[in-house]
Parts: sequence; C-alpha cells; structure tokens
Amino acid sequence: MSLKVNLLGVEFENPLLPASGPSVGSLHSLVFFNQSKVGGIVTKTISIEGADVKKPCIVAGKHTVYNTELWSEKPLEEWTDKILPELKKDLNKPLIVCAGYTSDDFKKSIPHLDKFADFFEVSTHYGKDSLHDLVSTICSLTDKPVFIKLSPHVTDFIDFIDVAIKAGASGVVAVNSVGPGVCIDLGKRSVTIGTEEGHSWISGPAIKPIALQRVMTIRKHYPDLPLIACGGVASARDVLEFILAGADLVQMLSSALINGRQVYNHIVEDLPELMAKHNIESIASLRKTPLSLEVKGKGGYPVVDKDKCVLCHKCTNICPEMAMRQETYIVNDSDKCIRCGLCESRCPTGAISGVI
Ligand SMILES: Cc1cc2nc3c(=O)[nH]c(=O)nc-3n(C[C@H](O)[C@H](O)[C@H](O)COP(=O)(O)O)c2cc1C
Repeated sequence: MSLKVNLLGVEFENPLLPASGPSVGSLHSLVFFNQSKVGGIVTKTISIEGADVKKPCIVAGKHTVYNTELWSEKPLEEWTDKILPELKKDLNKPLIVCAGYTSDDFKKSIPHLDKFADFFEVSTHYGKDSLHDLVSTICSLTDKPVFIKLSPHVTDFIDFIDVAIKAGASGVVAVNSVGPGVCIDLGKRSVTIGTEEGHSWISGPAIKPIALQRVMTIRKHYPDLPLIACGGVASARDVLEFILAGADLVQMLSSALINGRQVYNHIVEDLPELMAKHNIESIASLRKTPLSLEVKGKGGYPVVDKDKCVLCHKCTNICPEMAMRQETYIVNDSDKCIRCGLCESRCPTGAISGVI
C-alpha cells in the first residue's frame, strides 16, 4: 500500500498538508509540521509588510471557524532572513510558499522567496480582471510551479481557472474560506469578530461539501490539472473522499483549530487501515478512479436489524414524517415513510439498511 504522491516531479510521503493560516505562521509552528507526519508544508501568506490585524480575529464552534485574519503579521524580511532559512536547514518535506497579493508585491518578494519554495501558492480573491496580470507576473519571476488558490465565491470558476492557466499557472488549490458570514455574541449585543461591516470568513467541516463540489467539477473539466483540495477536512475518510473527487493533495487547517494539532498525525495514521477496508491499493490509484455520479442507494423502505439496534430512538426522533416508532422493536410505517434515507444516515450503530 502506498500513500505517496508525485506531483509535478515533487515527492510527497502522503497527501495531507496543513493549509495556509496561523498554524504555519512562525518558525516553531513550521518546525512542528516538519517533525509531524504530514506529507508537506505550506506557509502563511507572505506579503511585503506585516498585516495589521484587528483582534480578536479567530473564534470557533463545533463545525465552523470564523476568522478575520489577513496575510502574515510578519514582514517579508523576517520570513526571508530568519524563518525560512532556519526551517530549510532541517526540512525533510516539500514546502509550498504562499505569497500575496499584488503584482508589485511579487516583484519585490518572489526573488527573495524563490530559493525556499518547491511550489508557490497565490490567493486570488476577486474577479478575473487582474488575474492574468497577477499570475503572469509571478510566473515570470520564478521557474517553480505556481498554484492559484480559488475563493469559493467565484462562481464562474472554470473560466477563472482558464485565465490563470493561460497566464502560466500550473495548478489550483480549491478552496479558500467561504463568505462573508457573520458571528454574533448575543450577550454583548455585537458581532463576536468582524470587519467594519461585521463580516468574517468561514471554514471548517461545515464547508466541506462546497470544497468537494469545486474539486469534483474542476477535475471533470481538467483531467490532468494538478489540484490541491482544501476546505473542511477533519478525518482520513475526508482525505480519501477528496482524492476520489479528483484532488492530488489535500490541505487542512480548521479542524486542527477546533480539535487540536494532533489531528494531523491521527489522519495520516488512520489512512492505511481505512484504505485497506475500502480496497484502495494506493493514493495514486484512488486518484485515477472515476467518481460515479450515479446514486447507488436502493431507495427502499428502512429495515431495522434487531441485533444491532440499541433502541436509542435517534431514528424515531429525527424522522421528518414520524414514520419510525417503537413497538417491541423499532418498526417503520410504510404509509408514512418517504424513503428519504435520513434515518439510515444517522443511525449510530448501522442497524438500518435498505434506503441508502
Ligand atoms: C484563521 C485563518 C487564517 C487563514 N489565513 C490564510 C492565509 O493567510 N492565506 C490563505 O491563502 N488562506 C488562509 N486561510 C484559509 C485556509 O487556508 C483554508 O483555505 C480554509 O480555512 C479552508 O480550509 P479548512 O476548512 O481546512 O480550514 C485562513 C483560514 C483561517 C481559518
């Protein structure tokens, strides 16, 4: 079984990387990742001046992170004179350097960052107008592959990627945070964090389906484009789902902000067993497996396995048609049941079958 990924000639031990953000914004946190089990490292977005960020700027719930961070609060020289040279001494995995934001910034920063990077990653927040200039400028300053990072609010993203590829981009990272959104503190009668408009950006498991849709759609349009998934990853299963949807590599940030950084090693450790369970020989073979868009569930009535059912009543409580009820065991009323599949998807013991 192999977890390895070769992308544009660069070897990654496994497909999991940290995503750009505060967890990869200082030397000690980057050293943590160098010593961890992730397959590669990504930096916080580096610009010329350090960002001036209004605090507080990050809060989280169970499935969602809200943030108002900008790029790195450290200036370019701190990265090029201290952090990256120090990291590079013992670096044992590929490094993706995130750079921002304008063509003029790139003219100043890329010549200094170039020697540290295996790939560059560039956030592309807004319309297509400046995209060609932005991407062609950075590509003229480096021979390293340049990945553009897609914001999920770009709706014509296939056209958008077309422009970037024509300008010289080698690949895509999909996606950045979703939004804007709003996070409210009821007690203070105010937003908890926010810009002057009260806006914040949303990430974490809540955004995974949006990221999956972007990855799947990009892969269908560009069968061979180097593609890094990002958004809502929390488990080894999520990583494999993104690879099946078409990702070559998978980044994660918010789940570690919600649950702790040990989640990176846990995911890498969990991958082999989950791959064996699903007969996946290698990450490379899963990446080449087509994702079927045919729904393969049976769409029948739910059948409850009495031996597995623990009478927890999850299904009776959640069934929108109130079709599940307990007699001696849990039974389904087929006159009420709409065969939606919700009960089967939420049964904690896998006792329900027949629908999905
Ligand atoms: C606190 C925070 C800071 C972030 N900073 C950056 C950044 O500097 N550059 C960037 O490209 N993306 C940044 N992101 C976006 C993440 O890299 C990632 O695209 C997004 O959070 C979705 O992935 P996730 O759900 O695994 O967090 C940031 C996200 C958060 C939550």
